[in-house]
Amino acid sequence: MTPPKPAPRPDKVSLWRYVKLFRDDILSAQPARLYRAWMAEFRTPFFRSYLVNDPKLVREVLKARPLDFPKSSRISEGLRPLLGNSVFLTNGADWQRQRRIIDPAFEGGRLRETFPAMLDAARAAAARLTPGETEIEAEASHVAADVIFRTLFSIPIGSDTAQAVFRAFRAYQREQPILNIAAFLPLPRWVPRGFSARTRDSARKIRGLIEDMTRARQTQIAAGAAPDDLATKIMTTADPMTGQRFETGEMVDQVAIFFLAGHETSASAIGWALYLLATHPQAQDRVATEAQEFMAAPAFSGLSRLRFTRDVFREALRLYPPVPMMVRQTTGSERFRDRDIPRAAQIVLSPWHLHRHARLWDNPDGFDPDRYATDNGRECLRHAYIPFSAGARVCTGAGFAMAEGVLMLAALTASWRFAPVAGKVPVPEAHLTVRSKNGIWLSLARREGDGPAGDGVARSP
Ligand code: HEM
Repeated sequence: MTPPKPAPRPDKVSLWRYVKLFRDDILSAQPARLYRAWMAEFRTPFFRSYLVNDPKLVREVLKARPLDFPKSSRISEGLRPLLGNSVFLTNGADWQRQRRIIDPAFEGGRLRETFPAMLDAARAAAARLTPGETEIEAEASHVAADVIFRTLFSIPIGSDTAQAVFRAFRAYQREQPILNIAAFLPLPRWVPRGFSARTRDSARKIRGLIEDMTRARQTQIAAGAAPDDLATKIMTTADPMTGQRFETGEMVDQVAIFFLAGHETSASAIGWALYLLATHPQAQDRVATEAQEFMAAPAFSGLSRLRFTRDVFREALRLYPPVPMMVRQTTGSERFRDRDIPRAAQIVLSPWHLHRHARLWDNPDGFDPDRYATDNGRECLRHAYIPFSAGARVCTGAGFAMAEGVLMLAALTASWRFAPVAGKVPVPEAHLTVRSKNGIWLSLARREGDGPAGDGVARSP
């Protein structure tokens, strides 16, 4: 089974052309050789970038010596107005301290506690859909934001505050140029990149709204009347080494990244997963069968029985990794694959290329959820699959996002049948996450009386 055929990939491109192609259509525009190369060098007059596809090198950078390869400051700059000093951007001791406070909120036990809120959001999403042509990316954004609001601050997206934050984030995302491109742009560090006044404005607005929510929560915590959700957990957890908690400003930074990392990424993955199901009706029917059984009595413990649904979501994260590239920086000189790498070089780790690497994966561009039961699939899952990154800086929300994605596919597919819309083939492009240029249009029909759960839509609380 193969998703829409990528256009023929160019073989060689100049740096400028590469930058342009990357922005326009990251699926078909990447030079073919990058899907076979173990490493590629991009030279600019001021610094070097290395795209690293060799699983051994990926492991070295992310898992074996993460402290020698901190996050690239070229990339962080673009997010600073919104994210301040959040865990996503910090390095070294600051980052370690923040993770010590945040990580306990996302442990397995907590995940079980957030499940009812996720389920409410999933049911509400299934109830919101209507038959006919639908732009599913917008729906996916809506539900992913709903999940974050409900699990973090115990408020549904329908509330005024949530609506205001959601709208402000959407404006910010639209204005953002592709971020990771900074790793390739041949500009010296001292050239001001500058943010547009509008970007700064939306960032200020979002942070203002989040600060109000955080302060209100602090008052509730002090009064002993705070709901037991992720925000309360993070705000009341003390660093086991120093006993310190997050102050308001720092908490605003962390909440901003949870909203951004938590809803943009999941929305992207859910949108592409539904598109893949729409274009592969047999797989969709298999998901629906699992899903209808699950939705008849949904429980956290039942998620592990949604095996095929999980493998579909895995395939979506492989073919359309929401974070297509990550950039690190060398702190000293290195030798990679017999090549000398200078200090301050940009090391680009690319789920986009690694996940479709022709020398690693069988049928790399094909949609095949059953691959994870094969030797090649299992092997690649261990060494060539990094949608959530890997090692010490692995995504904090990986377990959360897997539970959310699988639940969402189950809740939606149990009640709805998705089909592609003729003439509307989505073209992936890279913003903050991989999104479709003109949205993802699908045709929706109810799965009435299809199975035991029938139309589970009406059971939203
Ligand atoms: C399908 C959904 C998701 C995907 C594909 C994803 C992917 C990633 C990736 C690739 C990174 C590493 C980025 C880098 O190193 O440059 C990351 C970091 C992070 N993610 Fe996620 N993420 C998802 C959902 C979430 C959710 C739901 C949350 C929280 C509610 C979250 C919170 C974070 C945070 C806080 C970091 C920074 C970790 C650190 O640097 O120590 N993510 N994510």
